[in-house]
Amino acid sequence: MGEAPKRVAIADLGRHVGETVEIRGWLYNRRSSGKISFLIVRDGTGVVQGVMVRGEVPDAAWETYDVLTQESSLIVEGTVREDARSPGGVELTLHAVTPVQISTDYPIGPKEHGSAFLLDHRHLWLRSKRPWHVLRVRDGLIFAIREFLHGRGFLCLDSPILTQAVGEEAGTLFETEYFDLGTASLAQTGQLYVEAGCMAFGKVYCFGPTFRAEKSKTRRHLTEFWMLEPEMAWYDWEDNISLQEELVVHLIEYALANHGDDLEALERDLASLEAVKPPFPRLSYDEAVDVLRSAGSGIEWGQDFGGEDQTLLTAEFDRPVFVHSFPRVAKAFYMKQHPDRSDLVLCNDLFAPEGFGEIIGGSQREDDHDRLIECIREESLPLAAYDWYLELRKFGSVPHSGFGLGLERTVAWICGLPHLREAIPFPRLINRLSP
Ligand code: 4AD
Ligand code: MG
Repeated sequence: MGEAPKRVAIADLGRHVGETVEIRGWLYNRRSSGKISFLIVRDGTGVVQGVMVRGEVPDAAWETYDVLTQESSLIVEGTVREDARSPGGVELTLHAVTPVQISTDYPIGPKEHGSAFLLDHRHLWLRSKRPWHVLRVRDGLIFAIREFLHGRGFLCLDSPILTQAVGEEAGTLFETEYFDLGTASLAQTGQLYVEAGCMAFGKVYCFGPTFRAEKSKTRRHLTEFWMLEPEMAWYDWEDNISLQEELVVHLIEYALANHGDDLEALERDLASLEAVKPPFPRLSYDEAVDVLRSAGSGIEWGQDFGGEDQTLLTAEFDRPVFVHSFPRVAKAFYMKQHPDRSDLVLCNDLFAPEGFGEIIGGSQREDDHDRLIECIREESLPLAAYDWYLELRKFGSVPHSGFGLGLERTVAWICGLPHLREAIPFPRLINRLSP
């Protein structure tokens, strides 16, 4: 008896060619041609084909083929061989196969399933190829975002999820009773808190789940989604736009450099991502409305862009498009008034190309105490809930700006997903709370 073989992750097999290794995982698929049988094994890091030849493996191993069903857990031992045609460039010549738990009637088969069925089985669907690739890209982007910001001197300041002040719109709050303090709502944004944070640390961000009771049932809306919200003291709205552009360019470069295999497996058109180079076009709202009208949109001045307008606008360009200086009536209360046009605010949206819609909303914030009170009143928001927020404008107020990048919108764009529900592990939609 030799030493027990080394336990190795499938992703690392390429570094163990010629060695005998152990892999712990699940049976992804199997096929047999009588004398040779193939076990396709996945372990979470990748997939490898194990080959057994009758007569060359112990009978006990050979016989496991018949009991091993899709998604049974198992431990296999084999020798790593180079094989250019295999995924990862290696194959395993199996010596031993030990079933751990036999799975019966795994509901997701190789046949096509409808999206409702797959979403009902999301807890299992995660094991399939497509979600596996998408969620690896999502993880990579989260890492890249944090790395980018920390490399630029940002501090992560986590904002609360249970809140009292309305961050965006009163109409889309999830509410819950909160002991003797009345009603709490789930945060629509962490922005008000990172505004406090940037006055303490200069440049901060929060990155967490946010909640919107959006009644809209569109492919671009979740009721729970993750938002990155950087906030920077002393930045004006143009500094803000430049940072957004740098971040988005970085994320595309990161995805192409580190997740090319995932994107290819998802059949993403890489050329359209490679075209995402700075500078991105920058249009004022007025200019964008002109572009939209000449493209056939019926948009009226003062309206925010709906999904169709977003698609129409970006169809004119091969890269993301900034639109800035929106009408005050279309946007949230905290945005700073345009110095030359009291009907506009110093804000921007960023629209992804190919119809993936708004991925960023940002603005310079109203930093004047009395003007901010007027804005809160104009929106009929309860002034008392903003005491602390207003104090930021009393004790050393400075120009400051920030933005929110929707993680799922970004993942959907980069992966080329038609619906946001595939961009998050367990989507929450108006008609879905489980699994
Ligand atoms: O434009 P929004 O509403 O901006 C804010 O919440 C600001 N407080 C951000 C800030 O300045 N700190 O949302 C920002 C982004 C959108 O551009 C979009 O990508 C995403 O969040 N988003 C959603 N994603 C999925 N489902 C929804 N229902 C979303 N609503 C917004
Ligand atoms: Mg927005």
